[in-house]
Amino acid sequence: MAVAGIDKLIFGVESMKDAQKYYNDFGLKKVRETAASSVYRTVNQAEIEVRPMKAKGMPKPIQAGSTLRELIWGVENKADLKKIATELKKDRDVTVDKDGTLHSFAPSGLGIAFRLTQRVALQRKVIPMNSPELVSRIDERAIYYKAATPLTVGHVVLNVPDVKAESDFYIKRLGFFLTDVYRGRGVFLRTKQETGHHQLFLLEDDKPSLNHIGFGVRDINEMIGGGYKMQNAGWPVAVGPGRHIVSSCYFWYFKSPVGGPNEYFCDEDYCTKNWKPKVFDPAPETFAEWLLPKGIVGKRPQPPTRTKKDMGKPKAKKAA
Ligand SMILES: [Fe+2]
Repeated sequence: MAVAGIDKLIFGVESMKDAQKYYNDFGLKKVRETAASSVYRTVNQAEIEVRPMKAKGMPKPIQAGSTLRELIWGVENKADLKKIATELKKDRDVTVDKDGTLHSFAPSGLGIAFRLTQRVALQRKVIPMNSPELVSRIDERAIYYKAATPLTVGHVVLNVPDVKAESDFYIKRLGFFLTDVYRGRGVFLRTKQETGHHQLFLLEDDKPSLNHIGFGVRDINEMIGGGYKMQNAGWPVAVGPGRHIVSSCYFWYFKSPVGGPNEYFCDEDYCTKNWKPKVFDPAPETFAEWLLPKGIVGKRPQPPTRTKKDMGKPKAKKAA
């Protein structure tokens, strides 16, 4: 079975207006914005949909208030979709849409779905960076971002009452891989053997809830540009910027009106069959090498103006 990654997230929210403003400021591309449903996209065509929390047709919430209502995983082919349906039907209800999307539930109660992936592969160019005796940016100034344009929905983090049962479900029944472990507290899982460090991070808690959502951006410079924009727009910093120990990524989290912080991240570890899972003791020093608890203090200096061409925007290549 090959779950490719996160294709779509559906949120039920208390305030559509706040959620709309949040995702516009966050840098997602607006596809549709109405009082009943708003849809946004990352560059690789992963989708975020927000609906009023009392709207019909969504799975039941796992917690009170605004939260994630359905996590839709992208699958690479019809044969795998069929295998997933057969596996899930062994012990839980599965409903199937006309387009073949499967809807069911994870052990935590969270609505999950599977569809042929609608995300696209990206044709990227290396962003040149200079180091002594190793230069790749020559006669050219560096890029300063005024906003972020997230490339991917990289990961979802959930608080669940039984991490063992939840991770067994994803590993043993859906073919996920264990990447790293927080001793006695949680597990980092990836959908495929060869992919980014984690698409799902499960943390032990009394009741299920959304912890946060992570969006992949190009590099630390785009993360800082996006973070500045969110800060200046008045969105409260949850934590960051900073750098994690587990997954090695840089991060900056902003509290959101969709039920959990949304994070910009970049430079996460990439794993193959040679990756060796490690057990980390949960502690502030394993959470981050460094972090700023409340964002960057001070007014941002005016960056040099760059043209769109200079930003090296990725082009969609072909369906993944
Ligand atoms: Fe994260």
